[in-house]
Amino acid sequence: MLISQQRITPRISDLFKRNGSDSIKQYVSKPHTYWVGSGREALRQILSHCRVKSNNDKLKVGIPAYTCHVVKDTIERAGCIPVFYDSGVVAEVDEAEKIISKIDVLLLCYNFGFLPEIKDFVNLCNTNNVILVEDCAQALGATYNRKSAGSFGDYAFYSFGISKNIGFAGGLIASNEEIYVSKLPKYPLQKQFDLIIKTIVSRLFFANTVYPFTKLFLNSELHKEQDFLSYACSPFIKNVILSQFERYDSIYNTRLRNGQYCYSSILKKDLLTELKGTPSWLYLVLQTENSHLLQKSLEARGIEVGRMLTFKSSTGNFPKAQKAEKEVLTFALYRSKKEIEKLVGVLNNIY
Ligand SMILES: Cc1ncc(COP(=O)(O)O)c(C=O)c1O
Repeated sequence: MLISQQRITPRISDLFKRNGSDSIKQYVSKPHTYWVGSGREALRQILSHCRVKSNNDKLKVGIPAYTCHVVKDTIERAGCIPVFYDSGVVAEVDEAEKIISKIDVLLLCYNFGFLPEIKDFVNLCNTNNVILVEDCAQALGATYNRKSAGSFGDYAFYSFGISKNIGFAGGLIASNEEIYVSKLPKYPLQKQFDLIIKTIVSRLFFANTVYPFTKLFLNSELHKEQDFLSYACSPFIKNVILSQFERYDSIYNTRLRNGQYCYSSILKKDLLTELKGTPSWLYLVLQTENSHLLQKSLEARGIEVGRMLTFKSSTGNFPKAQKAEKEVLTFALYRSKKEIEKLVGVLNNIY
């Protein structure tokens, strides 16, 4: 059985690395960076900074109606008001235009690592004097016009949660100007210990024979109340992430090879998300009205494609978001070429 989730990226050797060289500059190009305990905390700090800077207690933040559900909660926890614009996997500027006169900040979420036409959003924000924040939680390594995702807006943030491009824990703020990051509680030792255990047992965790049990555990984790992860990033976590940055070229190239192979070899092109720029290739997204049928057919042939349970459409009249929530299936791309060839072969057989 091929499973939809990716094997996590940290190796046991990353746990022992000290003072990894600062190789993040290749991927994160803004001059000021700040480590925190999660992507959501990075966003909360950016928005709090914007509130203070603009002396506006009720900042209105434009947010795509389809993205990871923690984003909306974070905007509210930062004391801001979310204003939704309709969006599928990839945001469209025409939808953002409809709300631009009502907002102070526009959040552009690069869902699953796919990019929109970023230059249009930059122009829209510049013309309307709106702050642009790039959500690169899933887009580390993605490029648009040969520049890194995260280099276009006023601020960007990244996530190193366990299933991300570089996985373990933590988040990063990237900013054109210095920002004040408020003092945060220490990252709990118990949680760091759990991460170490996950890293050590991950190979076993995703082995075929164990996976039916793993899946139950993962599902129960996803249904738990989400933690705010409002912590500081510990030196240990930072070192594990920096150690992985040193080989991120190779991690990215595996995903790139697999993503490009899928795009050149899958015959039913309308399943695929249209490319603008080069994605981070965290996931292959398959979107179809018959997603339940496709999921079942693939499963019968030994391939699990996932429904991203943390990605939700907001309530209201957002047809593109609601369509995405019903139709999107994902398959992580960090895996062997053989597994990808199997998926492509089976897909081409079905259609
Ligand atoms: C698009 C997007 N934005 C923000 C986040 C939040 O990142 P974190 O889980 O590190 O808080 C996530 C991940 O969960 C995400 O997928």
